[in-house]
Amino acid sequence: EEKKREQHRKVMTLAANLFHHLLMKTEHGVEARRYLERRGITGEAMEEFQLGYAPDSYSFLRSFLKRRDIDEELAVKAGLLAQREQSGGSVSRFDRFRGRVMFPIHDTQGRVIGFGGRLMGEGQPKYLNSPETLLFHKGKFLYNLHRARKAIRKEGQAVLFEGYMDLISAWQAGVQNGLANLGTSLTESQARVIRRNAENVIICYDSDSAGQNASDRASEVLRNQGCVVKVAQMPPGLDPDDYIRKRGAKAFTGEVIAQALPYVAFKLKMLKEDFDLKDEEGRMRYLTQAIEVIADLPRAIERDHYLRFLAKEFEVSLDALKQEHRRIASKKN
Ligand code: UTP
Ligand code: MN
Ligand code: MN
Ligand code: MN
Ligand code: MN
Repeated sequence: EEKKREQHRKVMTLAANLFHHLLMKTEHGVEARRYLERRGITGEAMEEFQLGYAPDSYSFLRSFLKRRDIDEELAVKAGLLAQREQSGGSVSRFDRFRGRVMFPIHDTQGRVIGFGGRLMGEGQPKYLNSPETLLFHKGKFLYNLHRARKAIRKEGQAVLFEGYMDLISAWQAGVQNGLANLGTSLTESQARVIRRNAENVIICYDSDSAGQNASDRASEVLRNQGCVVKVAQMPPGLDPDDYIRKRGAKAFTGEVIAQALPYVAFKLKMLKEDFDLKDEEGRMRYLTQAIEVIADLPRAIERDHYLRFLAKEFEVSLDALKQEHRRIASKKN
């Protein structure tokens, strides 16, 4: 088994080096390099993240591996080649990643275990990812962990992004403690890994409603592992990468990251959007719902803190809120 893993690693590394070389040093990669430059990615970042390019061909990697005497079945198992059964019963194998900017994904030791490949134009899927393999388990790895681990431990804090480009932009803006779970929902096992390295997590997902809902779910998963969570807020329609390009690195670190909302404040903010607070009835209904949120908090000091916070914000008596809280809490169990 370990021997098989070693063979997988070898072919993944070969492919990563090839893609990187094509991007940085050859005619094949010119368009991709331009694409990345247009998106503000520096040559330094292309090197640091070992970005690459997979040519728009069904046989570029396949021929390359053949010249290196790599077993094609191994390359299929590693997710680099795909295969199709022919009508006659024979199989044809071809490059899985074609015409894509390649983002290698590393394990904790910095070894390549998978890839994400982005189309430069329109088309589906926008990002194609490695399938599950002997090395690549989607719910287990965190993108950039091997690079960020030291900074995360030193600062006691990790910043969690949705995507490759967000993380790399943020890295260029000076954020070295970034991780990404690449658009899937954060798993318990990923949260455990984060908690082992830091107590504090700032979730910095896209500001669209999908991103905000994902922030909410990720918060719960992280809190269940004992993390202290904050959620960064950005203007509607922007993701961290868009934001950095529009407003600059300083605004990103100084405002978005530094002013991320504590988890409960984030929950209350999301909830508020469902009510008309100018209307008295709307305010009352919001307060009741907000108390529901607070009643779900596991720690008494947190519940107390936010009841006081609400009392102050809405100029209602703390006693009344506590009474309502007791009523709601007793209904819950
Ligand atoms: P987004 O759709 O927010 O893309 O998906 P993005 O990161 O902003 O990408 P750009 O800026 O358009 O290049 C967030 C993440 O979800 C995963 C990728 O990891 C992506 O970075 N994703 C998205 C996929 O795996 N497949 C897709 O088709 C789309
Ligand atoms: Mn290089
Ligand atoms: Mn998104
Ligand atoms: Mn995005
Ligand atoms: Mn984006």
